[in-house]
Amino acid sequence: MADERVPESGRTPKGVSRRGFLKGMGGTVLTTAALGPAAASAAAQQAGGAGSKSLSGPTEIQLKINGKTRKVTVEPRTTLLATLRDKLQLTGSKEVCDRGTCGACTVLVDGRSQLACMTLAVDLRGREITTVEGLSKGDELSPLQEEFVAKDALMCGFCTCGFVMSAEALLRENPKPSPEEIRKGVAGNLCRCGTYPRVFEAIESAAKRRER
Ligand code: FES
Ligand code: FES
Repeated sequence: MADERVPESGRTPKGVSRRGFLKGMGGTVLTTAALGPAAASAAAQQAGGAGSKSLSGPTEIQLKINGKTRKVTVEPRTTLLATLRDKLQLTGSKEVCDRGTCGACTVLVDGRSQLACMTLAVDLRGREITTVEGLSKGDELSPLQEEFVAKDALMCGFCTCGFVMSAEALLRENPKPSPEEIRKGVAGNLCRCGTYPRVFEAIESAAKRRER
């Protein structure tokens, strides 16, 4: 086995100093340790996104939300969830864990589900954001939302908007999901009240309605 020890000179065989190597690794290691693997991967994806240019202090940005362009001033560290709820009064996305574990804050970004509490608002410039408010037309609920009501798929309701958005992403990608695929599609969403069977039923019914 090759000897990978750093030589006495303090430089790796490729000429990178031990200090430089550790400095370079520090951010990645700390991110992984603090956020866990799934969240760290989301953070890494975001780092390469539109917001990777370094910003500081309050910054005015434009976000495309539910088909409308909204101007908002945020700190570079402000999450999409905080921006939606606190700055734009779009409170359908719920803050439950605020750490990427429950799915209550799920929104769509370019049609795919994403956790708003783990996403920086500045990274979403130029992307299409859809929140639960964007599924209905005024007071008219979407068929998926109607099925959640018809099947009584909620108790306290804290998890519901997140489930609806994950289900919407699933049905856009796979209009005829099997029961197993429905379970997998919303596997990142937690319901502490235990309404899972009714949630699955509502999604199945909505899929059938879309078929007609
Ligand atoms: S509030 Fe975002 S995952 Fe729980
Ligand atoms: S309905 Fe209460 S957490 Fe799901």
